[in-house]
Amino acid sequence: MKSQEYLSKKSLYLDERIDLSGGTKGWNTKSKEKAKELPKLINATVGTARNNDGSLLIFPTLLEEFGKLSGEQIFAYANIRGMPNFAKLWKEDTLASFPSDLIEKTDRLSSLPLTSCGLTGGLTLAGEAFLDRDDPLLIPNFRWGNIDNVLLKNQQLKEVNYELLDKEGKLNFSDLTDKIKTQDKEGKKFGIYLNFPNNPSGISPSFDQVRILQEALSEVTSPTIILLDDAYEGYVYESDAVNYSLFPHLVGLNENIMVVKMDGVSKRYCAYGARLGTVTLGFGYEVNEEEKVSIREVLAKITRSSVSNSPRGIQEAIINVLEDSSKHYKIQQERQTVQNILSNRLKSMKKLAYEKETKLLFPVEYNSGFFSYFLLKNNKSATEVSNKLLDKGLGTVPFKNQSNGLNGVRVAFCSIRDEDIERTIDILYSVN
Ligand SMILES: Cc1ncc(COP(=O)(O)O)c(C=O)c1O
Repeated sequence: MKSQEYLSKKSLYLDERIDLSGGTKGWNTKSKEKAKELPKLINATVGTARNNDGSLLIFPTLLEEFGKLSGEQIFAYANIRGMPNFAKLWKEDTLASFPSDLIEKTDRLSSLPLTSCGLTGGLTLAGEAFLDRDDPLLIPNFRWGNIDNVLLKNQQLKEVNYELLDKEGKLNFSDLTDKIKTQDKEGKKFGIYLNFPNNPSGISPSFDQVRILQEALSEVTSPTIILLDDAYEGYVYESDAVNYSLFPHLVGLNENIMVVKMDGVSKRYCAYGARLGTVTLGFGYEVNEEEKVSIREVLAKITRSSVSNSPRGIQEAIINVLEDSSKHYKIQQERQTVQNILSNRLKSMKKLAYEKETKLLFPVEYNSGFFSYFLLKNNKSATEVSNKLLDKGLGTVPFKNQSNGLNGVRVAFCSIRDEDIERTIDILYSVN
């Protein structure tokens, strides 16, 4: 193909390695196609929360605010770092989700957030700002597929896998803590990618498990960057799991560790297409305002020299909601409603999944997030299983990784109507 000659070496590299036909997007397209044949098909591929009538779950208060924006508020540029008022209010909104005794310390040891184009943009920015090509990145065997595209393929960090879930499907930090020690002995900078609630497993750690991680991290002597992917923070449905970001438990832990928190409106306020994420820096030592600002300015410079400003309208709408106490209260109630819907779905899925039996699949011990994940008991290909499920009327996403042995299917319970939960498990367990 002649036009290939115009491509850069990097695009040729990415063209060969990134597959847009697989993963969530690809399986969503397949499911939508199949639904034309099977109108009752349950599409559990995408991580967007849906109402029981199948429509997108939207926060009415945010939608109303959007409708009230002026042309200027939508179409003018926003500050490259994010609108100052947005950054301030977003930080307050985040801090308010932490236990009260951790708020002051976390505030003192962290920068103001800086905006990015969704969480994906934040991950790109953080990777670029703190890690170089071939720097080791400890990355879990259970992970969001696109993180490979962003950090391993595009930025070419060196993949060092850690086992997040053991063979029984239970969260266990022992492999991560071992790998942290081994990596630290090299005496060179390295990164750690953490994502809780986890995509695809739906797992969040308990307080005891977080303490084990803290102990290992507190001994690190090499410069360490924690990339904290908080896409689903707060969506936790069981009382023994930490129901907020790990950020306050990681800042101030060790002067060798910089924690980079990525979050955004995509999931916090179910505004996926608004493309607004934020990046907040958490320090391991007492830091003055000048240093916080100057590191944040580096991120602003990378932003300016690459993707430039984030969208303004959504920032204006969020400002209007968060600075008005009655609207703020209303949106928190709406968020609680979404959490209750998802919590009920998780509980019914889990009950049925444990009651019934199949020779092929078993669920991991999920307690949070938007997804449940079923490991395959034998070596059957996850893609083959997802194809069979699709033929029977259930759209799932196969998650497998040959290099670390991951093999299973992800079911996005966030988008399954309550009345379809039982049918979902029946279809899942009917495949052999
Ligand atoms: C774990 C995780 N991180 C990041 C993202 C990307 O979020 P955004 O749509 O804001 O770029 C997703 C989206 O599905 C995700 O699941």
